[in-house]
This record gives sequence, C-alpha cells and structure tokens, in this order.
Amino acid sequence: MLKGKHIVLGISGGIAAYKSAYLLRLLIRKGAEVQVVITPNGKEFITPATLAALSGKPVVSEFFAANTGEWHSHVDLGLWADLMIVAPATASTIGKMANGIADNMLITTYLSAKEQVMVAPAMDLDMWSHPSTQRNVETLRRDGVIIVEPGSGELASGLSGKGRMEEPEKIVEAAEKFFAAQHTLKGKKILITAGPTYENIDPVRFIGNYSSGKMGFAIAEEFASRGADVTVVAGPVSLPLSHPSVKRIDVTSAKEMCCECVKLAPSADVVILAAAVADYAPEEVAGSKIKREETGDMVLRLVKNPDIAATLGASKLPGQMLVGFALETDHEYENACRKLQKKNLDWIVLNSLRDPEAGFMKDTNKITMVSACGETVAFEAKSKREVAADIADTIFRNVPEK
Ligand code: CTP
Repeated sequence: MLKGKHIVLGISGGIAAYKSAYLLRLLIRKGAEVQVVITPNGKEFITPATLAALSGKPVVSEFFAANTGEWHSHVDLGLWADLMIVAPATASTIGKMANGIADNMLITTYLSAKEQVMVAPAMDLDMWSHPSTQRNVETLRRDGVIIVEPGSGELASGLSGKGRMEEPEKIVEAAEKFFAAQHTLKGKKILITAGPTYENIDPVRFIGNYSSGKMGFAIAEEFASRGADVTVVAGPVSLPLSHPSVKRIDVTSAKEMCCECVKLAPSADVVILAAAVADYAPEEVAGSKIKREETGDMVLRLVKNPDIAATLGASKLPGQMLVGFALETDHEYENACRKLQKKNLDWIVLNSLRDPEAGFMKDTNKITMVSACGETVAFEAKSKREVAADIADTIFRNVPEK
C-alpha cells in the first residue's frame, strides 16, 4: 500500500522525535518516498543529518537555505505529498495547525497540503487533556485530519498516563489503512441525510424532533477523510461541518430533503439515511402567525410525509448500496429487520433508546448493523466518531470495486 507513495514526515520538538527516525525507516522499507520537514525545535531533539541519511533527501526546515539564500517552496512539497504525517505533533504544533499560525516550514507545508494529513500527538498527560489541546485536536479532526490517538504509559516527565506518541508500527498501520480505504473509496459518491426535519405550522412554529445531526455528520467526515466524494443533505442543525471536501445542502422539511435526495441519488454509489425525518407534517401551513385569542383550542391535522428511504429503495440502481438507521424503543431487532426489508435497504444500523449510550444529542452510540443478507454485526458503545468508522469499515467491505 505504501509502495511509491510520496510521504511528507513532519517532525516537531518533542522527546518522541527520537522515534521518528524509526518511523522514517519503516516507511522507506515499505517502499514510500519520504521528505522530512522539521521545526526549529525538532532539531533540538533529532539531527537533520540522521534524517537526511535515512530518507536520502535533504531535510527541509528553513524558508531559505542559509548558504545560497534559495527559497524552499512549501507549496511544491504540499502538492507532491500523497500523505503528510506529523509525528511527533506537540501541543504547540497542533495549536498552530488548528489556527493557521504559519511561522515555520512544517505549518506552511501543512497549509499547502492537498492530500490527507495525519497527526500523531505526543505530550504530557496534563497537556493532552487540557481543554485547549482537546479543542485544537477537535478542530483538526473537523478539518479532515486523521488523529492517531496517543497511547497511555510512562511519559518523559516521569508521570504516567495518556500522551505517549503511538508506536511507529501503529502509525505505519494507520497510513496503510488510509491508503487501502482510499483505494476502495476514492471517487465513490456518498449521499448522506442528517439531522431532523422541521414541518411548519405557521411562520414561527414547527413540528420537529431532538436529532442533533451528530451521527450523520460524523459519518460524512469519516467517509470524506477516506477520500470519498460526500454530499450531506442536512435538516436544521446548528453543528458545523467543516471537512473541506464535504458538500452540504441545507433543507428544512422532509419534502425538501426528499426532493434533494431524489435528484442526487441516481449518481450515488452509497446512500446513508441518518436523518430523523418527521413522519408527518401539518396538512395546512398558516400563512401568518396563528393567534391564541382567535383560535382557542386547536386541532392540527397531520398528513404523512414522503418516506425518503423507501422512495430511494424502490428506485435503487444495480450496485447501489442503501443504508438506513432504526432508533427503536422495543422489539428492536424485529423492527429493524422489518424496515430493512420494507424499504429495500442493504444495511440497517440499529440503536436502542434503552441503551443509555445511544440516542439523540449524545456524543456516544451503541449500534448493531444488520444486512439484507442476514449478517449481524454488534459493536460496543463508542463515540459517534468511532461508530462512524465502524460503519464505514463495514460498508466499504461491501462496496463493489469500480
Ligand atoms: N426515513 C426516511 N424518511 C422518512 C422516515 C424515515 O428516509 N419519512 C429513514 C430514516 O432516515 C431511517 C429509516 O428510514 O434511515 C428508518 O427511520 P424510522 O423513523 O425508524 O422509520 P419509520 O419508517 O418512520 O418507522 P417508525 O414508525 O418507527 O418511525
């Protein structure tokens, strides 16, 4: 998977920089071509001579070569890279990446990188758990960066906890996994519905639900970071969706969501229906605000909304994959299987409101995936981001090669 790949290895100033030499060797051994970019502080921890000898290329660090005054182009490097790995990434480098503070070659290269960036943080446990670091890591994640989470154990400070840079073998594994996923998903078109829908009663009131859009957005970001071409049709949610390559179409009602999906579905390889679509809408929408004094008690007559999943299921194209969700309170498995069949889905992702880790507004979810072929895969409770990775892994095992 790494043979012939162009990898920029960014090294910042942490004690874990000594492991970067080994990481570099592993990447070269796997057949990758590696260009090292090091921060001024990084050079305090490992010498450019070692890295140049291992990579077979001069190490880039300064904007200008000291002896000739020649300008080093970070743009060229950013364009050259198939993958940029920053390992170790210190709290400072992560903060600069998250905020675009381009005061060294590593950051300017990051800002010019056209392909995937992967970061392996390394720092003391208190620095890692600090809200500032966590905020910056979250920003990077939202910007589409893959985070190779640090491991737990003995730290350079003598303390023990989370913050150790992941072992080089694990970083190489993450890079291989990225290229493998990219191989399968590059060019694949994924359509995702997310969030609730609002059904207007009058210009100021609506019928809605508690869906936050977190699950659908996490899936969109996961697929985008694996190289897929992702479009999200989102109901009214306040969440940002900042992965640079995801296209977002905002809608309000189920009818609008259905309309967009019907337009987009024929060109999609995979459709994931994660939205909590309102099943009913008021039969009539008042043109001006309904006044309490004039109306008194009121009865709203509701009519059925289109079932987007069933509509797309009925017109499913050969080779296209449809994935639905089922949030149930009882007879979970039976209800999910019924929906899978009725809507002509290929997979259904079941979560139960009886699980304390599952449901609206939560950051975690606990899912079981059931396929039309009868396969059932149950997962532990995880963060919605990790659940998105499980869904992507399970689905792309089954996406036919183009
Ligand atoms: N769905 C849809 N359009 C609808 C209703 C549901 O696309 N009008 C999709 C959801 O996005 C989800 C799946 O269908 O992927 C199942 O949704 P759910 O609300 O659980 O199913 P319903 O058929 O509405 O059944 P229930 O009576 O349990 O609400």
